Amino acid sequence: MTHMSTLYQTRVASGQIQPDAAQQAVLPEFDRIADGLRAEPVKKGLFRKAVRPDVKGLYLWGGVGRGKSMLMDLFVESLDDIPSRRVHFHAFMQEIHAKMHVAREQGVQDTLAPVAAEVVASVRLLAFDEMQITDITDAMIVGRLFEALFEAGVTVVTTSNRVPDDLYKNGLNRQLFLPFIDLIKQQMHVHEMVSPHDYRQNRLTGSRVYFTPLNAETRAEIDAIWRDLTGGSAEPLSLTVKGRTVTLPAYRNGVARASFFDLCGTMLGPGDYLTIADAVKVLVLENIPSLGRSNFNEAKRFVTLVDALYEARVRLICSAAAEPEYLYMEGDGAFEFERTASRLREMQDKNWAQS
Ligand SMILES: Nc1ncnc2c1ncn2[C@@H]1O[C@H](COP(=O)(O)OP(=O)(O)O)[C@@H](O)[C@H]1O
Ligand SMILES: [Mg+2]
Repeated sequence: MTHMSTLYQTRVASGQIQPDAAQQAVLPEFDRIADGLRAEPVKKGLFRKAVRPDVKGLYLWGGVGRGKSMLMDLFVESLDDIPSRRVHFHAFMQEIHAKMHVAREQGVQDTLAPVAAEVVASVRLLAFDEMQITDITDAMIVGRLFEALFEAGVTVVTTSNRVPDDLYKNGLNRQLFLPFIDLIKQQMHVHEMVSPHDYRQNRLTGSRVYFTPLNAETRAEIDAIWRDLTGGSAEPLSLTVKGRTVTLPAYRNGVARASFFDLCGTMLGPGDYLTIADAVKVLVLENIPSLGRSNFNEAKRFVTLVDALYEARVRLICSAAAEPEYLYMEGDGAFEFERTASRLREMQDKNWAQS
């Protein structure tokens, strides 16, 4: 059992992180929650069963790269004595939908209730990374789901890039969603992290992002960057594009990792690439081969992918068979690829940043 503020200080002292005033300012909130979760059950009346007091959660929001996810991970790490789970919000909602689907197939009427009960039975604290609601199917169930969680005494901690009032902004049937925003404000302490530091950008500034040729050394460099950005652990992220599912094999904290084959060797199209570019801040793309006649379709998809990443100002870290100008040397499309090569070059610039 370690207090979050102690753990943070340990990391600072060991040089793993830099002391940051905006981060330090939220540490007491995490300590408060941990103390609450560890409090002994109390009797509210002579003949009542002792119950644990409800612990108000935390809604931590602010710009990208401020360290929100890092703090939340550290918090969950500090709670080794409390049943807790850290999960990407989007992945969690997909899990809920999948379980509701199974319940529906079994003829259950109110499919949300048993699914919520299952979640409640397994945790006392849920930590959601990157809460955002863009999908009407999520918007319509999230209120009842969270109500069930709070009612059962589950504490929720979440990171988000948006203030609660802006969740599901301009979404379809938004008025039905508004009670959820009230519920959040009531059950969670809302804290904005205001800081001029974008650590993700800082970490990547000046470091190499394009690695060639494809050999063991390149692979090791990519592995090291991946570890640095994600701590090494990741989970798949499934995105829904027009009713289909596109899966990024590894994702954490806005950083995704995939191979050229994963993204360009399968039947993906512009809509998929736009969705991917929208969902990630950094893409680690490995094993881009030499392009030409033999892999014309893959090359075409790669051009579309780079365009999407470029427009969304995603940071691209990649390993390739050759420098951009030498990737596509012969065959139809070599001329068009010049633009892609130039974009790949531009995206290597140390000032290539999120807008
Ligand atoms: N105080 C800090 N010192 C050094 N690196 C940090 C610090 N805070 C965050 N980072 C690193 O910066 C990157 C971005 O942090 P992250 O928590 O993902 O930001 P956010 O979730 O707010 O977008 C991560 O690699 C994280 O480990
Ligand atoms: Mg984050």
